[in-house]
Amino acid sequence: MTQNQYADLPNSYQIHKLTVTPNITLAPMAGVTDSIFRRIVLQIGGCGLVSSEMTNAASISPKAMKRHNLLDYSPEERPIVMQISGNDPDLVANAARIVEQLEPDAIDINCGCPSPKVTGGGHGSALLRDLPKMEQLLKAVLHAVEIPVTLKFRAGWDEDTLNYIETAKMAEQTGVAALALHPRTREQRYSGSANWGRIAETSAAVSIPVIGSGDVKDAHDALARLRESGAAGVMIGRGAMTNPWIFQQIEQLRRGEPVFEPAPADKYEFLLHYLMICETEMNERLALNKLKQLMGRFLVALPGCAALRESVHRSTTIEEAREHLAHFFEPYVEMTTVV
Ligand SMILES: Cc1cc2nc3c(=O)[nH]c(=O)nc-3n(C[C@H](O)[C@H](O)[C@H](O)COP(=O)(O)O)c2cc1C
Repeated sequence: MTQNQYADLPNSYQIHKLTVTPNITLAPMAGVTDSIFRRIVLQIGGCGLVSSEMTNAASISPKAMKRHNLLDYSPEERPIVMQISGNDPDLVANAARIVEQLEPDAIDINCGCPSPKVTGGGHGSALLRDLPKMEQLLKAVLHAVEIPVTLKFRAGWDEDTLNYIETAKMAEQTGVAALALHPRTREQRYSGSANWGRIAETSAAVSIPVIGSGDVKDAHDALARLRESGAAGVMIGRGAMTNPWIFQQIEQLRRGEPVFEPAPADKYEFLLHYLMICETEMNERLALNKLKQLMGRFLVALPGCAALRESVHRSTTIEEAREHLAHFFEPYVEMTTVV
């Protein structure tokens, strides 16, 4: 293989008229992929599409949306998909109508969330156990809005009831524009590994774009999965929290360019920048929680990083957290300055 072994891979896909390029996108993650995280990932570059956090259709009304900011976004976040969950076709269709007025590029229906709180209400992956209901819901949403509707789903409720091909075909027939498959079952939650063979099977079974989601940890993973599965695109969730540069790295690898490896000083700068935006846009408690959540996965990979994570986790003020970060990264920042 030449150095530029990925140059022949597809770099875009269509969601109706929308061209998603590059075809590497940020997976929706409740509590994580808010406007701040999306903007910061997009600023680094290499990400073709972002998604809102999952939003319960019952909480989508002009009044309720003043209390939560789940669907807030800024113009630089385009193209953006807004994700809705629900169980009642009329309620979800009505929510989709309201969401359409916010002018996202598409609306995504969540049929993958495994959380008991969500499945208990018949939302998320619970719909995998009732495909006629899912079909009714998709049809109602498709009837209600003009923008494209996409579906994100899992491989089935459990290993005995795998129905990803049936679900994909049904969705395609109803008029869904693209599919994102996280090929674990609901029962697996996040255990075991994502079976990309299921993504390959699904891509071969339908004509609409199928985006694969699951366990992509680095740039090589992303392009290898894209090649092996024949998927139209790859979605990255946890890997983007660990390494927000992953999208840029994929783009560089694909072009055969040197891949940027963030130095400790870059990671420090990233954390400070993230914290600064959080502080500007939310109260101290929420901003600190956001930092703690990111730090739970963010790859520091330096001696003493477990202790740093703990210190940040125990911090009760932003000032305290910032001091821990400054103390930890001090030697690395000095090294960069000397060089
Ligand atoms: C903290 C967290 C929150 C998530 N929230 C959502 C969500 O709101 N909607 C959704 O469709 N999937 C959600 N997911 C699933 C991801 O979008 C993705 O499909 C899954 O994590 C597998 O990809 P990964 O291995 O790249 O993380 C979430 C995952 C995590 C870890």
